[in-house]
Parts: sequence; structure tokens; C-alpha cells
Amino acid sequence: MAETDTSSFWDELTSPLNLVLVFFILYLLYKIIRSHFETVEPVSVPPPMPKLRQDMTVAELKKYDGTNAEGRVLLAVNGIIFDVTKGKRFYGPGGPYAAFAGKDATRGLATGEVAASDKEYDDCSDLSPDEVASAKEWEDQFREKYDIVGKLLKPGETPTKYEDETEDKKSQ
Ligand code: HEM
Repeated sequence: MAETDTSSFWDELTSPLNLVLVFFILYLLYKIIRSHFETVEPVSVPPPMPKLRQDMTVAELKKYDGTNAEGRVLLAVNGIIFDVTKGKRFYGPGGPYAAFAGKDATRGLATGEVAASDKEYDDCSDLSPDEVASAKEWEDQFREKYDIVGKLLKPGETPTKYEDETEDKKSQ
């Protein structure tokens, strides 16, 4: 009798369906145990870039289109240069708004055209009141999100010295 019980248990266990289930359970156990011993690969986070504080001419700004070794991306709106590196997916090489990288984006943002002029300096004096308002909205959005680097210099304008600056003076 006892022998019959043992053999029927064995028959039951070795039935094809149960064998599949047993292997599946063993496989899950193996995965669970293995996951406890796995070391998580550290994600390499690039060190934060030092803050840049500097007024620039249109020509100087051009270098910061994200293609240089440092990868920093700047753009200007309404005469203010912003560090938009953290928005690199928008402005970096190949991004949808790469045309604004290293450029004065005022006219493009005001008129809704993803393009920037290569003029030495664009005073944007011909923009309509609506376009001026649109550029201002973009400026406000950028002030919220990005660090200010400095002013976009008009031809002949002298750069500000920022060495001893305190945080509250950083609005321009
Ligand atoms: C069919 C038209 C457009 C669509 C569907 C569109 C869509 C978008 C989307 C989905 C984002 C990402 C928003 C986020 O994740 O924060 C974005 C960002 C942006 N768009 Fe557009 N966009 C359009 C046209 C334009 C135009 C015409 C301009 C300016 C000329 C523009 C300028 C920008 C800029 C500058 C950003 C990045 C903002 C930032 O740095 O946070 N877009 N757009």
C-alpha cells in the first residue's frame, strides 16, 4: 500500500505538465536568488559643469552650440544669455531647436520660426508688439528654468566684471 502511494506520487510529479511547472518554479527561484547577489552597475553621472558668468558678443556666443568638448549650450533671448545645457535634448546637436544653440534666439522665438540670424547684432527693433510679448514670455520661461550667464553685448559695449557678484545681483 505504502509502495503504491509513493509510486503514484512519483508518477504525478514526473507527469509532463508538472515537470514543466517544477522547472519553472526552480527557474524563478534561481532568478530571485541571483537578483540578491547581483551588483548594480553604477550609472556614470557626468560631473556638474562649473557655472559660467560672462557677457559675450554674438561671435563669442557662437562657440557654445553644444559641439565643443565641454558640450555647454547657451542661447540668448532679449539680450540675456542663458545656459540651456540641461535642455540639451532640445538645443543640442540634432535636437529640434538646435538652430538656437549658440545664437540670439530672440527673433526666432518672437516670430515662431526655428531659425536664428547670423547678423553681428540683431536689435529686433522691427518686431511687432505681439512678437515682443512672445519673446518676453520665452524670456520669463527661461529665467524660471535656466541659469543666466550674462548679457549679449551690443557692438562696442563693454562686458561687466562679475567676479565679486552676490546671488541677488544675478538678474541681468
Ligand atoms: C508644431 C509645432 C510645435 C510643437 C508640436 C512643439 C512641441 C514642443 C514640445 C513637446 C516641447 C517640449 C516641452 C517640454 O518637454 O518641456 C517643446 C519645447 C520647445 N519648443 Fe516647441 N513645438 C512646436 C513649435 C515650436 C516653435 C515654432 C518654436 C519657436 C520658434 C518652439 C520652441 C520651443 C522651445 C525653445 C522649446 C524648449 C523649451 C525649453 O528649453 O524648455 N516650438 N516644443
